[in-house]
Amino acid sequence: MARNKIALVGAGQIGGTLALLAGMKELGDIAIVDIAEGVPQGKALDIAEAAPVEGFDAKYSGSNDYEVIKDADVVIVTAGVPRKPGMSRDDLIGINTGVINTVGANIKKYAPNAFVIVITNPLDVMVEVMQRASGLPANKVVGMAGVLDSARFRHFLAEEFKVSVEDVNAFVLGGHGDTMVPLVRYSSVAGIPLPDLVKMGWTTQEKLDAIVQRTRDGGAEIVNLLKTGSAFYAPASSAIAMAESYLKDKRRVLPCAARLDGQYGVKGLYIGVPVVIGKNGVEKIVEIELNAEEQSMFDHSVSAVKSLVAAMEKAA
Ligand code: APR
Repeated sequence: MARNKIALVGAGQIGGTLALLAGMKELGDIAIVDIAEGVPQGKALDIAEAAPVEGFDAKYSGSNDYEVIKDADVVIVTAGVPRKPGMSRDDLIGINTGVINTVGANIKKYAPNAFVIVITNPLDVMVEVMQRASGLPANKVVGMAGVLDSARFRHFLAEEFKVSVEDVNAFVLGGHGDTMVPLVRYSSVAGIPLPDLVKMGWTTQEKLDAIVQRTRDGGAEIVNLLKTGSAFYAPASSAIAMAESYLKDKRRVLPCAARLDGQYGVKGLYIGVPVVIGKNGVEKIVEIELNAEEQSMFDHSVSAVKSLVAAMEKAA
């Protein structure tokens, strides 16, 4: 049986972590491309040399030529620039739109059957640019944001409750930015919804509200600490979970930026919603009932993403 091929466009902080994780999980052979001379080659060789120690088999190749991604099963895209302290994800729109257009054209040329996961920010707009530039069907082009946002939420909740992260489930909707919607009612510990845990005295409403806000600001918190770039370990782990669900047809239910077609009253826009990821890419968009407050937060997030898409179209 031929091994799967995972292509990574962008060999920076996230790209390098993706390359290591994909190998350690034996998801397939790994091809890395980047414009920076020597970087994809160097990281590919360095990780290949870790494989004998860690005990995994994966072939690594790095190149400055897009041909290296030929016939990839999955392409994970981090090419572009990350933000610096004081910048919002939206400040990256001009420069990263140009990068994603180039990457999309090369995916169309070399890997038209791939499942494409976009990580480059501003996420919800970049995934739209990618779908248009690659011409791939919308079910094969998704954005990674919700898995990361909900992982941050889960981490903070597990710390607050002093329980295993494995038993904390969190649900996040909406765009990847300040308008994201952490859904408290649908988040739980071992099946017990958060509002019940407040009633049980495990935490207070004030503490829970602070955790929700910290989740919304989770990316900025890391940017302010690192000063020279943005988060990369957790974003890479999150994208690998999505790639693995596709490659192994696991049909995991993961929050991803997916193109809505009438669900949640939205048509033709990429935004974060729970989806089933299987061998056909996005197999299903899960539409849950929102109460009035949740709907209004979601609507607010949708309009924020819509105005960013409009800004991107104007700049193009
Ligand atoms: N083609 C290929 N690679 C490119 C291009 C391009 N046109 N433009 C930039 N790159 C490469 C850079 O050379 C760099 O190696 O993209 C890589 C980006 O890596 P980092 O700067 O380390 O950024 P990283 O932290 O990995 O984040 C990448 O993901 O979360 C988002 O906001 C983040 O948009 C950023 C992206």
